[in-house]
Amino acid sequence: MTAPEGVRATALLTTYARAQESARQDRLFDDPWARLFVAEATAFTGAGLPRIGMARDDGISPLWRAFSSYFAVRTPFYDERVRRAVAAGVRQVVLLGASMDTRAYRLGLPGDTTVFELDGASVLDFKNGVLIRHGAEPTCRRVPVPVELREDWAAPLREAGFRPGEPVLWLAEGVLMYFTAEESDRLVATVTGLSGAGARLLTEYPARQVDEETMTRRATDEAERISAMMMAALVRSGPDAGPEEWLRRFGWAAEVTDIAAELRRHGREVPDVFADSADRVPVWLIEAVLRG
Ligand SMILES: C[S@@+](CC[C@H](N)C(=O)[O-])C[C@H]1O[C@@H](n2cnc3c(N)ncnc32)[C@H](O)[C@@H]1O
Repeated sequence: MTAPEGVRATALLTTYARAQESARQDRLFDDPWARLFVAEATAFTGAGLPRIGMARDDGISPLWRAFSSYFAVRTPFYDERVRRAVAAGVRQVVLLGASMDTRAYRLGLPGDTTVFELDGASVLDFKNGVLIRHGAEPTCRRVPVPVELREDWAAPLREAGFRPGEPVLWLAEGVLMYFTAEESDRLVATVTGLSGAGARLLTEYPARQVDEETMTRRATDEAERISAMMMAALVRSGPDAGPEEWLRRFGWAAEVTDIAAELRRHGREVPDVFADSADRVPVWLIEAVLRG
């Protein structure tokens, strides 16, 4: 059972941020499995969390404070909308690039809801192993679907029991920044082809590609600088337009907020990279509905 690598390793950073957030007194959510994923991926047996590149538990890194506050504050944005959609009767939730997402376990979703978790096989194998070893039980039906999201993933999703055209909520959380404009188009075209009117899509992406300079400028030591460079090498352009315009092309109406607004909503500090610096990179958070 090996820990995720490459783009897949970015999953460990978001998981790390959720583990840190869950340990706070004023936490925005509790994800008790996040710490277990980090501990097993790093064979860490101590208290707190081990350092993983820019992810660190000592609170002194502006780079990690920016990333971790982004990863943590987007969680309730998605959680609230998943709960709302399911309360309104949606029974299919599809996680594109699911990695260590534990919404099937921690949101109390009803037993007749199916959460399809799409990611690479190695990521899902690692995740399943940890959850099984710790006796975790989802509250709803959870269906892991190993796929390559740049290839045909509609067929394996259908084979896994997904019912095209029935009410669905799609989540692409922390995914589009690893895709080119063309790959982003293909992803949303596939989502659209599997959706009926009224389907919902939650996603996010930065207003511009995050370059190496923006990343490394905020590093405080060599380990952070190297992991910032590795992260910068993984990111791509994402969609080639702002959310409303981009999604309109595929028939979706989008409502958009951003990470800075979400941080303020929760009374959290806003790192300058999201709002106040010359090299700022606003990150859009998007909820879209497919028009009839
Ligand atoms: C930064 S992680 C975020 C994932 C998760 N939604 C979260 O918020 O924690 C990105 C995830 O997308 C998956 N991913 C990225 N590109 C992919 C592809 N082409 N095919 C399958 N999975 C992919 C990675 O394996 C990784 O688990």
